[in-house]
Amino acid sequence: MSTARITLDRDFTIGEVPRRLFGSFVEHMGRCVYTGIYEPGHPEADENGFRKDVLALTKELGATVIRYPGGNFVSGYNWEDGVGPVSGRPRRLDGAWHTVETNGFGLHEFVEWSKLAGTEIMEAVNLGTRGVEAARELVEYANHPGGTYWSDLRRANGAEKPFDIKLWCLGNELDGPWQIGHKTADEYGRLAQEAAKAMKFVDPDIELVAVGSSGSGMPTFGDWEHTVLGHAYDEVDYVSMHAYYQEQDGDAPSFLATSIDTDQFIESVVSTIDAVKARGRHKKTVNISFDEWNVWYQRGLDTPDQPHNVGKTWREHPRLIEDTYNVTDAVVVGTLLNSLLRHGDRVKIANQAQLVNVIAPIRSEENGPAWRQSIFWPFARMAELARGQILRAAVNSDRIDTAKFGDADLVDVSSTWDEENGRVALFLANRSLDEAADVEVTLNGFAPGRVTRAEVLEVPEGGDRFTSNTEAAQDQVGLRPLAGVSVEGTRMSLRLPPLSWAVVEVEVSRG
Ligand code: AHR
Repeated sequence: MSTARITLDRDFTIGEVPRRLFGSFVEHMGRCVYTGIYEPGHPEADENGFRKDVLALTKELGATVIRYPGGNFVSGYNWEDGVGPVSGRPRRLDGAWHTVETNGFGLHEFVEWSKLAGTEIMEAVNLGTRGVEAARELVEYANHPGGTYWSDLRRANGAEKPFDIKLWCLGNELDGPWQIGHKTADEYGRLAQEAAKAMKFVDPDIELVAVGSSGSGMPTFGDWEHTVLGHAYDEVDYVSMHAYYQEQDGDAPSFLATSIDTDQFIESVVSTIDAVKARGRHKKTVNISFDEWNVWYQRGLDTPDQPHNVGKTWREHPRLIEDTYNVTDAVVVGTLLNSLLRHGDRVKIANQAQLVNVIAPIRSEENGPAWRQSIFWPFARMAELARGQILRAAVNSDRIDTAKFGDADLVDVSSTWDEENGRVALFLANRSLDEAADVEVTLNGFAPGRVTRAEVLEVPEGGDRFTSNTEAAQDQVGLRPLAGVSVEGTRMSLRLPPLSWAVVEVEVSRG
């Protein structure tokens, strides 16, 4: 048995929970849009062709903001192809994913779908093959009330009221040689600056995300952020981060400690931003939009029946990177969310990539069912319960040894205090593969009362750490009640099973 002591204090807060941390991502890639959120003719499709089963799961997931339409896709995309009568929209080759894009789904459809999902839109502009002109025209189309060419075109296309999209990405991963329209940091920094200026001339209320590094392993990491912000610091509000993780060579302990990498990555980008701020004597603070993150088993995009980017076969919505997630992945996703929340003073937006089918918490089959993957659960519960103030948790935990990160806390945690409804929530992971952990939580400055939620995700009976949900067995991995949570004075005690993620919520008054 291992142990962990966690101390929370009402006065030690990190900041308000940025609700945009619980974002997701819909890219025109694989089956995320087509046969994911949109499938006319499906028994569950509404009159727009939106799948009601996927929509219901999206609401249950609790995503707050959704990035669209890419991803690598956006760097070769003409937004105009996706507006106007569907019958007149062009079929195009999408070079990013070697796919035929029908344009049956575009901006208006996404706006309508977002209204039903109750999610904010985060729209990306193409700074790969296009530039300042197309970006500012899209802002005019989306946000200007009317009386001009582009805003009147929107009205003619059926949307009298502006879409009022506040959040915009200035391109995607342009530091990556794989990107259509890949650029050097200087080329991108100047383009981002000019596009940002022109977009804000049209609508000064928008918020803009500059492209940061596609990962901390990029050879230009650090220099890229420094140079880009050197050009565009005044014009942008956020810089992006992307990170994907996977278990390698069966090294589960390192994989389970992955959030250490996330912590370090975030702290490095914060340092770079603040160095540019200091050097340029800027007053405002640029924050972080961690707008792609997840577990992704990067085996390559090709499967025997679905070759990608090779040969002469072009398909509509092929199956791409449809990872099936297991118990271990769910625990890791819980710790990644903990890292994001612990850095909520600077990470203001985060988008799990992606929403449906493509490395996603939701899976759906064409003309078939939709179900929750294991990673659905930590996201859904944190999106539901992480509200109010983020509490700074002091953790004194037994340690595990990892090949990649050295020593790591066995128990990982983040916590929030919602003063309005008088509740403290804790999100906990036990990284040990074989030992339960006894956890004692001290809640200084609080008088804890009734435990209002106690749930755990662990290896199911008869399963192992690789157990996952499938079309045939959709509920093998999920949450079950966590028994034995007790409160005495300012102390709360609980036991985490081996390899588990748990949520505990307790009523509190000021102590
Ligand atoms: O999310 C899948 C892809 O990963 C995105 O299109 C791209 O931005 C990233 O490399």
